[in-house]
Amino acid sequence: MTYENIRLEHDGAVATLTIDRPKALNALNNKTLQEFEAALKSLGADTRVLIVTGGGEKAFVAGADVAEMSALEVPEAQLFATQGHRAFALLESLSIPTIAAVNGFALGGGCELALACDFIYASEKAQLGLPEVGLGVIPGFGGTQRLTRIVGRARAKELIFTGGRIDAAKAKEIGLVLEVLPAAELLAHCSSVAAKMLKNSPLAIATAKRVIGQGADKDLGEANALERRGFAELFGSDDQREGMKAFLEKRPAVFTGK
Ligand code: CAA
Repeated sequence: MTYENIRLEHDGAVATLTIDRPKALNALNNKTLQEFEAALKSLGADTRVLIVTGGGEKAFVAGADVAEMSALEVPEAQLFATQGHRAFALLESLSIPTIAAVNGFALGGGCELALACDFIYASEKAQLGLPEVGLGVIPGFGGTQRLTRIVGRARAKELIFTGGRIDAAKAKEIGLVLEVLPAAELLAHCSSVAAKMLKNSPLAIATAKRVIGQGADKDLGEANALERRGFAELFGSDDQREGMKAFLEKRPAVFTGK
């Protein structure tokens, strides 16, 4: 499939999805969101890690497309928010690890895109923020909710109410970004983390991702019940038998994800 505003590249089991509209700092317009969703749906079982990044030198994604949004009326804005939420919920629901490689501005919908990934690594020149209140709106692609769950209410409110941008070091300090890398090393770092994950059982990773995600909004008792069930179910898998057999035979495991 050919895309206009994104690129989807495969390197073995690692796919890299680049939002690639640098003339508008990779802003998310309707077409880009459609292509993003289509690209996610096209990923096959052979893809085991997804890296999301931005094309060009300056931006990860500088937000939803303000030019396209500016003329929306209430019902259309509802549809646009629904489209963004659907795309990011699809990203979040992937059973494989997803890494945001934030290589520049990650503002508004761009910050929200990074927040929908499992974790974020940023380049030293990255700037993150939710500037929507300065445009007379609020974050509309999940930012009020996902940011709050990651950095806590007060930090989220500070970022959203001020509409300010924070640099990568500050984003790391508040737990939004895991690591800050020199720009030239960002993608290599993501690939090396991907390589570590590829050595492990895909089924176990998918189960860990599922119980972490489903448990996050439950009380501890219910959440721990999800973990117990997930743990036990894996004992019916080839991956569990292979993983433990390989350990006992002192050799690397060969996982099939079954
Ligand atoms: N939408 C549409 N176009 C955008 C854009 C956006 N979010 N961000 C940048 N662009 C365009 C600019 O209009 C400009 O286009 P032209 O060359 O045709 O004028 C081009 O990208 C380059 O941008 P700048 O000249 O502004 O570059 P800069 O280096 O001076 O500034 C910036 C960079 C600080 C990121 C600035 O572009 C900016 O503030 N962008 C908007 C950020 C923003 O407000 N994002 C939130 C959008 S609302 C949202 O996302 C809602 C939601 O939650 C769903």
